[in-house]
Amino acid sequence: MPKLSDVTRGRILFGGDYNPEQWPEETWHEDIRLMRDAGVNSVTMGVFSWAKLEPRPGERDFGWLDTLMDLMHTAGIGVVLATPTSSPPPWMGRLHPDTLPRDADGRTEWWGGRQHFSHSSATYRRYAAAITEDLAARYADHPALTLWHINNEYCTFDHGDEAAAAFRRWLRDRYGTLDALNTAWGTAFWGQGYDCWDGILPPRRTHYLKNPAQVLDFRRFTSDMLLECFTAERDIVARHTPHIPVTTNFMPLWTGQDAWRWAEEEDIVSVDLYPDPRDPLGPQHGALVQDLTRSQARGPWMLMEQAAGPVNWRGVNHPKPRGLGRLWSLQAVARGADAVCYFQWRQSRQGAEKFHSGMVGHAGERGRTYQEIRRLGAELALIGPEVAGGRIRSDIAILHDWHAWWAGAQEGRPSTEVDHPALLHAWHRALWESHLTTDFAHPEHDLSGYKLVVVPQLYLLSDTAIENLLAHVRGGSALVCGFMTGVADEDDRVRPGGMDVRLRELFGIRTLHEWWPLDAGETVACDGFRGTLWSEEIEAAPDVTETVRYKGGELDGLPAVLRKGQAWYVSTLPEPEALRGLLARVAADAGVRPVLDNVPPGVEAVRRGDLLFLLNHGRESVTVECPGTHRDLLTGTTVMDEITLGRYGAAVLGP
Ligand code: GLA
Repeated sequence: MPKLSDVTRGRILFGGDYNPEQWPEETWHEDIRLMRDAGVNSVTMGVFSWAKLEPRPGERDFGWLDTLMDLMHTAGIGVVLATPTSSPPPWMGRLHPDTLPRDADGRTEWWGGRQHFSHSSATYRRYAAAITEDLAARYADHPALTLWHINNEYCTFDHGDEAAAAFRRWLRDRYGTLDALNTAWGTAFWGQGYDCWDGILPPRRTHYLKNPAQVLDFRRFTSDMLLECFTAERDIVARHTPHIPVTTNFMPLWTGQDAWRWAEEEDIVSVDLYPDPRDPLGPQHGALVQDLTRSQARGPWMLMEQAAGPVNWRGVNHPKPRGLGRLWSLQAVARGADAVCYFQWRQSRQGAEKFHSGMVGHAGERGRTYQEIRRLGAELALIGPEVAGGRIRSDIAILHDWHAWWAGAQEGRPSTEVDHPALLHAWHRALWESHLTTDFAHPEHDLSGYKLVVVPQLYLLSDTAIENLLAHVRGGSALVCGFMTGVADEDDRVRPGGMDVRLRELFGIRTLHEWWPLDAGETVACDGFRGTLWSEEIEAAPDVTETVRYKGGELDGLPAVLRKGQAWYVSTLPEPEALRGLLARVAADAGVRPVLDNVPPGVEAVRRGDLLFLLNHGRESVTVECPGTHRDLLTGTTVMDEITLGRYGAAVLGP
């Protein structure tokens, strides 16, 4: 199986999306000059080129791309070649309206934007396969080709008629009989029993709440349909170029794809990441996405897109202050990226993203953005040979599962204040701030390598996953679970007692009487801290080894946190400092050490291979203790016992 290291060959890939079709040919030459000057060694082309490559049905115009592939090769720049299938040409929707998706209200998503394709449309799939086939055949032997990039940020839903037929086929495969489907969906409720397959629809607009099991299956189906689109194109390019790796770029923690499953189908896992420069927790969001992507990749991964400056899709779009782009790029490298790429190379002058930054902004070569890109390119070239391929070791895994997210995020739940990604962020933050490096894992993955497993929330757990958690604790390792975990089975059926009995026994919960969700901003007092979002009326079993109790209010004296041996249950969301303290203690008990001790606030410490990355996310200089003698790869100087990092400063320390 081809790998990322086949492409990087001891370097860090540096570059971005390049859309030369937006520019006259003389600009291409200027671009290549600037790319070389900036140390760009990789460009992604063709992402949105379908209308250019196939201007009329069945016609082909590859001439311009031939020229660019040759130019890139001559310049020593590798090409990540994209299949253009995320934005079909306007003629397709006009001639084949069946290729256009429909939303839950039956409204068509027309051309004029992008991603206006129905994943279930046979016509779309036929055209997508044909252009992919011709692209792959044409460039299979081109020396500039380094990697295939299939489609772009798969993220669409379709409630149309062809999708409905595909949904029925998918359901038949899953359930076999209508009886099994009716049982799984609990259609006895509200008289929804189906008498024939043709009666089943995607969850279109309804008068009141939808059947949650139907919605859950529709999410699963959508992820699977998009994955079919991906694997169909992947198989075509792989047939032509078995030695060239294939990826598709994920959106960070995107709800629409079961990215664990998807990652298994990719040679390389890549992600697009756009933290808000103004968000004080932007770096932590970045770290979370990077940890998740590395875990999906089971090793080095690609940062396929980030912004060199502002994006244009927030309400107010802030630029990156001087130094921040470099810092966040080094953060990605610290957390396992072997590619630091951007959307896009040259900022557009027209179109919907003309106010989205590029590596070369409207200010051009003299602009601060390009100058910072240049500096970063040189630094990545410097550290690349020692960093690329390096592994990150973690004794802690945070569990995350898309199906649990989908099931738990439905209408009709106990509290709309509870948000799965927000919980993941809160728990990851507690570990991140303590410099405890974490992987992510699926609840059914092999957890034997982890001393501590952390479950912010897994509302839905399969029996296999539950047995996996039990085995983890039985094997002597630690487990901490947040509230609303193990509530439902795979059909979103509430387990007897409101939480799986095996888990209740594991944590020493005798009875779970009621959930007491909290209002926005409301807190609940516990011994030594305040809880937010949620509380629970729990009766502990006699064999519990430790409890922290609720104080005052309706739950006064009842357990808020329970511990039975190595298994902890946290029935509220402790405020950040308390959660940090709790997890630091559990980690220490489990024998997990932070990357570095005495790290000042705002500084992130990560170890990749035998390199120590220190990243100052603050605007003030700060001195970090790092006992011993180190080589600073970025400056070439020797560092003894401590190092001072300026505003947004970073150091990469080697032995
Ligand atoms: C995504 C897309 C790009 C571009 C950027 C803008 O990541 O893949 O084409 O639209 O967003 O931030």
